[in-house]
Amino acid sequence: MKKTLIYAHRGASKIAPENTLPAYQLASESGADGLEIDVQLTKDRVPVIIHDESVHRTTNGTGFVQDYTLEQMKKLDAGSWFSTNFSDCSILTLDEFLCWFQPLSMVLNVELKTNVIEYKDIELIVYNALKHHQMLDRTVLSSFNLNSITKIHDIDPNVQTAFLTSTKRYNLEKFAKHHGASSLHVKYRLLDKRLVKQCHSISMPIRVYTVNRPLYMQKCFKLRCDGIFTDVPHEAVEYRQKFQNRGD
Ligand code: G3P
Repeated sequence: MKKTLIYAHRGASKIAPENTLPAYQLASESGADGLEIDVQLTKDRVPVIIHDESVHRTTNGTGFVQDYTLEQMKKLDAGSWFSTNFSDCSILTLDEFLCWFQPLSMVLNVELKTNVIEYKDIELIVYNALKHHQMLDRTVLSSFNLNSITKIHDIDPNVQTAFLTSTKRYNLEKFAKHHGASSLHVKYRLLDKRLVKQCHSISMPIRVYTVNRPLYMQKCFKLRCDGIFTDVPHEAVEYRQKFQNRGD
């Protein structure tokens, strides 16, 4: 029986600032199977790892990512908002992240943050970076924006894509497939036995976000979801082990 993969959501984001190198380093040491990163584009069109369109919440800056050049972006402190222990953290470029990640034997989920701002050509820019780092075979590219999914599918129909959604819809898995998605990433509250069965009946992996509570993890493991995204990868790995030992 295939196990449910554990993806560290923005890294080990409960114990280090999200989407920074320390968060990813800690997650890589946790025994998690994969990491999840969020990508946006700077003014000079460099893919950088940050969740929000604005730098306000997770740095000491203000304004939008798209209005910063990479040089300006690199000057921001991306750790002190979380704890002064992380005051030397800067925002990572996708290239820096992939150089670090490539030698690890983990899988990757890149979320294209195109649901608010449709960064021109972000799909091709990110695809080319993944190709350059020989990462295409162990990466899932996801987005809440179906246009991004369709664009990636058009660039390379063999690349793994996922439609991200928190909205219930009739025949969700078929809808996602129709737009070029090879998998489905759903908010936990959408998860039920029927949806997992429907996805698996068309060989579509289903992964669930953001799963931090043991009870919710248990439901995902029990239903044989293909993956979960969690802020607490260390706990999820331990909990999955316990679950497997019980033989449920
Ligand atoms: O990719 C799963 C999860 O990251 C989606 O939600 O808001 O964290 O981007 P959000």
